Amino acid sequence: MPAIRNLALLGFGNVGRTFVDLLERKRGVLREQYGIEFRLTGVATRRLGWIANPHGLDSAALLRGEFPAPGTQLKDVRDWIAAARAEVVFETTSLNRHEGQPAVDHIRAALECGADAISANKGPVVFAYQELRDLARARGKRFLFESAVMDGVPIFSTFAETVPAVEVRGFRGILNSTTNLVLEQMEAGATLQQAVRKAQDLGVAETDPSNDLDGWDATFKTVAVSNVIMGGRLRPDEVHREGIGALTGEQVRTARDSGHAYKLVCEARRLQGAIVASVAPERLPLTDPLAWVNGISSAINFETDMFPGLVLTELDGGLDATAYGLLADFIRASRS
Ligand SMILES: NC(=O)c1ccc[n+]([C@@H]2O[C@H](COP(=O)([O-])OP(=O)(O)OC[C@H]3O[C@@H](n4cnc5c(N)ncnc54)[C@H](OP(=O)(O)O)[C@@H]3O)[C@@H](O)[C@H]2O)c1
Repeated sequence: MPAIRNLALLGFGNVGRTFVDLLERKRGVLREQYGIEFRLTGVATRRLGWIANPHGLDSAALLRGEFPAPGTQLKDVRDWIAAARAEVVFETTSLNRHEGQPAVDHIRAALECGADAISANKGPVVFAYQELRDLARARGKRFLFESAVMDGVPIFSTFAETVPAVEVRGFRGILNSTTNLVLEQMEAGATLQQAVRKAQDLGVAETDPSNDLDGWDATFKTVAVSNVIMGGRLRPDEVHREGIGALTGEQVRTARDSGHAYKLVCEARRLQGAIVASVAPERLPLTDPLAWVNGISSAINFETDMFPGLVLTELDGGLDATAYGLLADFIRASRS
């Protein structure tokens, strides 16, 4: 009989809930194909407080919105990890754009308390990747974050596991779905405002879409990929950033009529020992593979010494794919 792994979730919003649902859907596969048994022993959010039960929480009840009372003795994340006897902590709280907190502290606490740490939140990767990676190594634990960029598409694990020893010289990608969908709507005749409203109606853009439109989300993803895959030490404020707010529908449609497409392109390149990165709208010829990426799809094209162009594309991303990235990380962490 495989040992049962105790899992604890920080954040129980769209991603956290979809992940719990996916875990239950894949329970049989995890047991039969990977020898992994698990129980959910902790869940915590700002509003819910620190909920822990080392004997297991009822996933179905949590998904119905029925939560046990939080532990009144539990004052912080370390108390909660101990009470849940958590062996794997999943970080799915909201991104703090300025310093990545408290998610960075959550991951640090998980690793220091002897748990593997898996994050969908970009904050810990952008603001503390080297420190958390080294801490995980020192403790013999895993810090994994496949869902942080392009949902669950295997970007980080491809370079960690599948294409060892390649030199990554740079990349270009379309990594933000909201702006891509907005630009597509503008091509079809909408103004920027109408296109944003449509993206909000479809549940793709947030109520306050500025994080996406101003290029911040794309910037964070660019930093995460640069620092993890290219060994950079970039900070978000070092990325040249331009959003799509200044583009007009007419500009976008004129480009389309002349065989071009406007895309918000994320780019990083090694230049004289440093990594130079940018996020900006570009008028791409339709012969560029990034020009074919439409709607809520995304893609990244890596230039390496072995593959001049290695393109990973996700057609129609979504929450299941994000939850899958957490699941794949969980399997990886459980095998090592
Ligand atoms: N949605 C996606 O498609 C997607 C894809 C890839 C990555 N991500 C990343 O995954 C994370 C979660 O996204 P989401 O869509 O699930 O967001 P969400 O629906 O807004 O849920 C966020 C959850 O985090 C909790 N939370 C926020 N701040 C917290 C804090 N300081 N301490 C404890 N709990 C806190 C919230 O609890 P309260 O409501 O109680 O505050 C809520 O349960 C984000 O970092 C996001 O960038 C999302």
